[in-house]
Amino acid sequence: MKPLRIALTKGRLEKDTVALLERIGFDCTAVHEKGRKLILPVGDTFEVVLAKAADVITYVEHGVCDLGVVGKDTILESRGGFYELLDLGFGKCRFALAGPVGKDFFSGYHTRTIASKYPKVARAYFEKKDMDVRIIKIEGSVELAPLLGLSDAIVDIVETGTTLKENGLEVLDIICPISARLICNAASLKLRKQEIERLVSQMEHAKEETK
Ligand code: PRP
Repeated sequence: MKPLRIALTKGRLEKDTVALLERIGFDCTAVHEKGRKLILPVGDTFEVVLAKAADVITYVEHGVCDLGVVGKDTILESRGGFYELLDLGFGKCRFALAGPVGKDFFSGYHTRTIASKYPKVARAYFEKKDMDVRIIKIEGSVELAPLLGLSDAIVDIVETGTTLKENGLEVLDIICPISARLICNAASLKLRKQEIERLVSQMEHAKEETK
């Protein structure tokens, strides 16, 4: 049988996932010694694919990877053509609405402008609040937008809060918690059910052990 192909979000989630796989007992030597290689074997069981967060979802949706590890932030912004199997418990942070310290964002009736790397999440949040906003998509360092006068506030990820603090911004509202999730292609879940269920249960146990 072909190894199961699992796409990992490069960077911190990759490191945390490799640590989890090692706790289960998988040999991740090839991943540690990867150099610039992007597809690495983990024993005979898996093939690890290293990709950017949004691409992890694309590869899983299209079925060229069976599984993926990606943040809930990227999942919420996607179309969701895959299954979410497990909250891995790492990569914890939150989505927040943030704006300049001391400014009363919610008062008045004018249409606010919001900058975000996550327009879908931002739109859903303001629709729930029944607030009419203009959303501008920004690719990174979203904190710049209110500082430069482009937006009244931002919807972004907050982890330690340092970026906000060092740029004179503060959390106005917490939108939802975020953590890394194991996702799965729908056809893979049917065709390789046993292997995938075994991995999910191993991950659940290894995750519990570190609590
Ligand atoms: C994320 C996020 C914030 C920052 C929050 O950015 O968009 O800017 O981290 O972390 P903190 O609360 O610990 O300061 P990232 O570093 O991923 O870069 P980006 O903004 O360019 O996407």
